Amino acid sequence: MLYSEKVMDHFMNPRNVGEIEDADGIGEVGNAKCGDIMRMYLKIENNTIVDVKFKTFGCGSAIASSSMATELIKGKSVDEALALTNKAVTEALDGLPTHKIHCSVLAEEAIKSALDDFYKKYPDGK
Ligand code: FES
Repeated sequence: MLYSEKVMDHFMNPRNVGEIEDADGIGEVGNAKCGDIMRMYLKIENNTIVDVKFKTFGCGSAIASSSMATELIKGKSVDEALALTNKAVTEALDGLPTHKIHCSVLAEEAIKSALDDFYKKYPDGK
């Protein structure tokens, strides 16, 4: 089987899909080769990720990666979210095929980009 059960589950039933209207940080990244785009919305209070939503226009692995990434950072501190790697996302999904690793990289980058936006708006945190 090419994809793990976890990948299939997060692809078929992605968690935290949508937008946050008054988000404290929004990040959008894309991969020029495959054309996939991922957008991440963060709500932050006391430097904790209290809510996170995503919209991914992309492949199944990108959707599963963004879904898993949101689950991994929800309730965590901003620093912990910043430290999330694509490797952690891939491991939590019980692996991805080699040619799909870049989909998990997109999830890491989307979170970093949203946190970047957050720090631009709130240089001292929130
Ligand atoms: Fe590019 Fe999945 S194929 S993000």
